[in-house]
Amino acid sequence: MPDTRSTYRPPARLLHWSMAVLILATIPVGLLMTQEGLARTLQNSLYIFHKNVGVLLLILVLLRLVYRARRQPPPLPASVPDWQHRIAGLSHLALYALLVIMPVAGYIRVRAGGFPIEALDAMGVPGFVPRSDALAETAQTIHYFGGLALMALVALHIGAALHHAVIRKDGVFSRIWPPFGG
Ligand code: HEM
Ligand code: HEM
Repeated sequence: MPDTRSTYRPPARLLHWSMAVLILATIPVGLLMTQEGLARTLQNSLYIFHKNVGVLLLILVLLRLVYRARRQPPPLPASVPDWQHRIAGLSHLALYALLVIMPVAGYIRVRAGGFPIEALDAMGVPGFVPRSDALAETAQTIHYFGGLALMALVALHIGAALHHAVIRKDGVFSRIWPPFGG
């Protein structure tokens, strides 16, 4: 359904900002937990956090994609040139793609490797992936390079958002901020 509003609706804001907080925690935890020399108990806790929040992020992004298909984002202010419009669209598409690829690759890496995902196991959700070292290794490579791409895109995205908020002050930032209301 086309949206005639000039700002994002409350559910879109809430989903954007809750996912942003969780992603900005999941990435550094992922980088930290794979370092050598960490205390075993700390490493286990970080893995448990990363895997389970990662699965939650997959659920949230699927919800967000369903919501977005039903409610188009508001149009950008007329002051934003066409080429920036196109780049913003492409970068959002790439972000959504990586937000699906990352948790799916992480899930396959863990399940094919024969490891637990505590929250799903506690709820009795079966693993949908066969045990296979080759599959686990491929998924691990995708997860690794996807992580690098996601970090680069998120950095660009935050840079662009701050540019609009602090320098241009053109209303792009307040389309999605604050996380509540709107
Ligand atoms: C949006 C969600 C996710 C993001 C942004 C993310 C990001 C990352 C990053 C940056 C790393 C460190 C780089 C690397 O060694 O690969 C990592 C590692 C890892 N992630 Fe994720 N991850 C996500 C979801 C998941 C999920 C859902 C699982 C499993 C259920 C998972 C399992 C792992 C594992 C096992 C590693 C260690 C890789 C290894 O060396 O085997 N991740 N993740
Ligand atoms: C860290 C993970 C983040 C991810 C994955 C992410 C992802 C996205 C995506 C996919 C959109 C497009 C929404 C749509 O139209 O469907 C978006 C919009 C937006 N995000 Fe983020 N975001 C993140 C963090 C941030 C942060 C920290 C800021 C601010 C500093 C920010 C500011 C914005 C703004 C201003 C928009 C609206 C831009 C527009 O409508 O063109 N985001 N974000």
